[in-house]
Amino acid sequence: MLAVIGGSGLTQLANLDVTRREVVRTPFGEPSGALTFGRIGCQEVVFLARHGHGHTIPPHGVNYRANLWALARSAGAAGVISVASVGGIRADLPPGSLAVPHQIIDYTWGRNSTFHDNGDAPVVHVDFTEPYDRALRERLLAAAVEADLAVVDGGVYAATQGPRLETAAEIDRLQRDGADMVGMTGMPEASLARELEVPYAAICVVANWAAGRGDSVRAIRFDALEEVLQRAMVRVRGVIAHLCAKTR
Ligand code: HPA
Repeated sequence: MLAVIGGSGLTQLANLDVTRREVVRTPFGEPSGALTFGRIGCQEVVFLARHGHGHTIPPHGVNYRANLWALARSAGAAGVISVASVGGIRADLPPGSLAVPHQIIDYTWGRNSTFHDNGDAPVVHVDFTEPYDRALRERLLAAAVEADLAVVDGGVYAATQGPRLETAAEIDRLQRDGADMVGMTGMPEASLARELEVPYAAICVVANWAAGRGDSVRAIRFDALEEVLQRAMVRVRGVIAHLCAKTR
């Protein structure tokens, strides 16, 4: 079974043939909402809306541990695809484009970011050199090629705390650090997946130019954002459908 975590603009998977919904409790609390089980083609899929069905949970308020535990342990998903909206920093990442990042820089703070913080248990360190699963990334990219949809291969995802957007100077700094796109939910989601040893990859949808870039030079305008996301999500669903079609 493949898990899909939908972010802003993707609170449900329209092409999912839903079989059941299940409210799951985990040792780390409640996930963002009920898990939706179904099928896309032959592939069993479990879907979770990261911000809740009514989009009420802010990035810093998401219970990432419960979400990952519910998908990987309770539902037993063998892989997790994250769909996440981002601001574009690099010149070839304008609003509406899709990217499969290959690296992460984490600027978040104060989030419950590990499963390994229980009392007397020995200290655990996990390798995170390559934060995204290579094979799952390749599958996403191959599915995009098959679907004839343009997806940028690679990029450094900067995870910021939010919920406020960044200043232009902060984006300058992120760019100097090597970041290509910026979002608020990529961490600790990715490292928690690694702790659970479940393959994890992300497909990012550029919702807007990051602060100080492109038409966000003076301010980030929200009016066009929803439409950009909705249009792009049609393509994201296409990529996911092709990925599922290839699974036997
Ligand atoms: N910054 C951070 N997160 C985001 C942005 C942004 O510009 N756009 C969408 N998610």
